[in-house]
Order: sequence, then structure tokens, then C-alpha cells
Amino acid sequence: MTMFNNIYKDKRVFLTGHTGFKGSWLSLWLSSLGAEVCGYSLAPNTAPSMFEELNISDRITLSVFKNILDTLSLEKTMNDFQPDIVFHLAAQPLVRLSYFEPVLTYQTNVIGTLNVLEAARKCKSVKAFVNVTTDKCYENKEIDRGYKEDEPMGGYDMYSSSKGCVEIMSSSYRRSFLQSDGTMAMATARAGNVIGGGDWAQDRLIPDCIKAINHEQKIEIRNPIAVRPWQHVLEPLSGYLLLGQKLLTEGKRYAEGFNFGPNEDSVLKVADVARKVCEYYEKGEIIVHKRDDLHEANLLMLNIEKAEKVLSWKPAYGADKAISETVDWYKHFYKKDCDMYKFTINQIENYEESIEWNNYIQN
Ligand SMILES: NC(=O)c1ccc[n+]([C@@H]2O[C@H](COP(=O)([O-])OP(=O)(O)OC[C@H]3O[C@@H](n4cnc5c(N)ncnc54)[C@H](O)[C@@H]3O)[C@@H](O)[C@H]2O)c1
Repeated sequence: MTMFNNIYKDKRVFLTGHTGFKGSWLSLWLSSLGAEVCGYSLAPNTAPSMFEELNISDRITLSVFKNILDTLSLEKTMNDFQPDIVFHLAAQPLVRLSYFEPVLTYQTNVIGTLNVLEAARKCKSVKAFVNVTTDKCYENKEIDRGYKEDEPMGGYDMYSSSKGCVEIMSSSYRRSFLQSDGTMAMATARAGNVIGGGDWAQDRLIPDCIKAINHEQKIEIRNPIAVRPWQHVLEPLSGYLLLGQKLLTEGKRYAEGFNFGPNEDSVLKVADVARKVCEYYEKGEIIVHKRDDLHEANLLMLNIEKAEKVLSWKPAYGADKAISETVDWYKHFYKKDCDMYKFTINQIENYEESIEWNNYIQN
């Protein structure tokens, strides 16, 4: 099957955050598309981690464990590699941790992103830059509709506001430095709550459910009625890859912000998702844990009309499929009954076959 018009075959891709949850999946997908991938991140910080379990360092061209705040090393690594495109995913991505580590969160997300932009601008081989932010970049008014790309940035907590800042900074950066011919085309990508196998981060619903089930403990949820746009990890990644394709082939026309969220019927309450996890796992019991004082959004949705119209992107999986694929991954991982690398590649191939916009990208 020809995916993304074969644009990634032999392309040199610089990927920050390759040791994380989304970055591990993207490393594998890009490699399977024939790309030469240089990953640049801190070492994995969970045990287990998908990066270690699937031996991703051996499946990409180069894996560098360094900090994006180390500008010398960042610029040298990028310049030595001479990438065509940068996917920037490295971040401190946790809302709750941002209450305890506000400076680290801002340094990593805002200054770190500026460093990666600067390194890419100085490296003349870079033609395209996909800058990953989040649905939480919008000023959340807890309204009953999805946010559009041109709505105000904001953020109650330090994580969300750091990503709102990244959006504002990126827009300013584009206007200040990326207007003339020959400069890279840079777009930002805002996705919702992502689920999938291989995530063991703290304070995320699915990893928390899986950990509790495997320790024969009750699943504690803090905010059962909170509503989020749930999507399988391959959904936003397909959006990032399609956006990257467009930036590489058609340049600055696509150098804007894009939302990649699920369809409206995949916007579910936290408790419903936890219930479905137990149903598919055929195990697990949920209890509602007393909430603490840390504010977390109750209602957050994305409007995805722009990605649908401008990129012809659309979600391929509903929430049920996203949750069942996720549970399947962890079930096999803990049963140790198959090769998880092959299993993951198989999930990627099944996803590719489900993409309805594939006809569009083959042309
Ligand atoms: N997971 C989600 O639900 C979700 C939703 C919306 C947006 N996002 C965004 O997607 C991106 C990836 O998220 P994830 O869930 O894979 O997170 P993750 O925590 O699993 O991975 C984060 C990655 O960033 C790297 N990193 C962190 N600080 C670094 C530093 N100073 N220098 C170099 N590397 C550093 C880590 O090593 C890791 O590779 C982030 O930008 C996040 O904000 C995630």
C-alpha cells in the first residue's frame, strides 16, 4: 500500500521525543514507511517503556539521548544528520506534574521548542517542521462544542498554558523568520487525549487502569464525569504525517495550526472509558477516588472541520475501536504470548487499511 504518496521513503526525519509514547509509535511508523529517522530525546523515563520493550533504538537510523535545552548538542546533532523534516514531540506533557514542576514544564515546552525551531532554522536541509502541541492550548471555557483553530489560546494549568505559549510563540516565529523563500514551512498540530498500547505515563487514565488491573487493584478515577476527545495514538500520528507530507510538497500553504481530534461520538466521559477498558479486558473494578485541589478541565472538545476540508484527513477509528486496540496491546504484552514489535506493526498496518482518505493520498 502506498501511504502518504510514498513521501517518507528515504526521507531524513529528525524526531524529538522518540523515547516517549507517541514518539515510539511514530518512530516505528516512519521506519516502516522507509524513512531514515534520527531520534533526539531524554532516555525513557518509565519502566516498562515501549521504546525499550520494542527495541526501537535498533529500528531507527540514530537514537540520541540528549536534552533539547542543550542547544549545542541539539544543533550539532541536527546539522550532522541533515534532515528534510522535523517532527517535534519532546515535551513535559503531564497536566498534574506541571503543578509540581512549573519551571521544568515551561523550560521544556516553551524554551525547548524555541531551541528546536532555532536548530531547524539554522540547518538548511530542513524544509518542513511539524510542531506538536495539544487541544489544551485553547482558552477552555468549558463549552459544549469543539474549539476551532482561530480561537484564543490560553490554559488554566501550567502545562496547558505552556502549550498555549508554544502556539503563540510559533505563530510569531513564523511571521518573524519563516516568510521568505527557502525557509522551512512550519505547522502546529493540536490533538486530543491519546490512547494506545505502550503508554506507562503517570496520571493518565488508560495506563492507570492497566496498572490497577495487573496489580489486582481497584481502578481509582478522580473525575468520572470529565469529558475528553479520546483517540487512538495512530489517529493524530496520521494527521502529523499527512501534514508533514503537505508541508514537504506544497510548503507554506499548509504552515498553520491544525486540530486532529476524534468524531463527536468518541467524546466520552472518563468513567465510560474506564468501564470499556474493564469490559474489553474482562477484568477490573472502578472506584471514584476523592478529588484533590488540582484543577483539571471538565469539558474539552476539538472542531476538526479544517483538517477534514484542507487536508482531507479524518479519523478512522471510533472510541470503541481505539479502546479495544489499546486493551489488546496490553493484554498481549502482559501475557507475553507474541512478539510485541510484530504485533505493533500489525496494528499500524491494520490502521493504514482503515484509512478512508488513503485514495486521496495515493493521487
Ligand atoms: N499523550 C497525549 O494524550 C497527548 C495529547 C495531546 C498532545 N500531546 C503531546 O504530544 C507530545 C508527545 O507526548 P507523549 O504522550 O508521547 O509524551 P511522553 O511523556 O510519553 O514523551 C515525551 C518525550 O519528550 C522527551 N523529553 C521530555 N523532556 C525533554 C527534554 N528536555 N529534552 C529532550 N527530550 C525531552 C521524553 O524523553 C520523551 O521522549 C507532547 O508534545 C505532548 O504534549 C500528547
